[in-house]
Amino acid sequence: MNLVDLSRSLLILPADYKDVRPHQLALGFALLRLIASTSIVEKFSEKVLNWASEFSDVLLPLVYAGLVPDFLIRFGIRVRLYDHLNILKAKSVEQELSNKMEIIQSLKTMPIAIETDAANAQHYEVPAKFYDLCLGPRKKYSSGLWPTESTTFEESEVAMLDHYCKLAEVKDGMKIVDLGCGWGSLTLHLAERFPNAKITGISNSHSQREYILETAKKRGYNVSNITIVTCNVSDDKGALDVVKDNDLVMTVEM
Ligand SMILES: C[S@@+](CC[C@H](N)C(=O)[O-])C[C@H]1O[C@@H](n2cnc3c(N)ncnc32)[C@H](O)[C@@H]1O
Repeated sequence: MNLVDLSRSLLILPADYKDVRPHQLALGFALLRLIASTSIVEKFSEKVLNWASEFSDVLLPLVYAGLVPDFLIRFGIRVRLYDHLNILKAKSVEQELSNKMEIIQSLKTMPIAIETDAANAQHYEVPAKFYDLCLGPRKKYSSGLWPTESTTFEESEVAMLDHYCKLAEVKDGMKIVDLGCGWGSLTLHLAERFPNAKITGISNSHSQREYILETAKKRGYNVSNITIVTCNVSDDKGALDVVKDNDLVMTVEM
């Protein structure tokens, strides 16, 4: 192929898709990437994502009424998460730090927990048996971690719990608080992995306390190392004294 033919084949669109050559595909892909990375297209797609995310609020009553299929709910969740990531995105490291500090500052002025009675009635005092139907075997009421495509739901609970322990540099024998312990996914995991750790779980649900202690006993963990405090951490400042003499305070999606 001479130079003229080459430039032609690069510039002229093939009449049929069968005539498409690999380099034309690569060129087309590169062009698309270039267009998509321009700030106008980027801003436009962020705006569309933002509209879609806000619009999904309008559809929530349909979701609660059970009229939206799961695949659409999953799609909606992804749209909302991408939109949230865009809102947090910063143009520079300085901007990112300043955004983060703004969030930290606003958290300092907020109560630790809100709507606790409603949350208890809706989720936390619901019998643990109900959660046998919709949570994994660890009753983890928070996100899992899928390190590989083939990770199962059950494995995702353990993978995330191990990840927390690694991040928090947990060592056997430590005194650890699990603030907002739920049905003990972390408390029980700590008891299993670190048999000499002293663990204090805190939650505002009586039924969760019973479930955790019963499960620890059934699994043969050292129950004397586990204390579960039932209180509302927003009201009961005294209960938080428990936190002071510990090596670590871990809290997951309280
Ligand atoms: C979403 S669940 C997460 C449970 C657990 N950390 C997990 O990852 O499986 C939130 C937990 O925080 C507890 N919680 C929420 N508000 C609380 C409050 N004001 N005082 C004490 N516990 C609270 C709930 O009872 C529940 O155990």
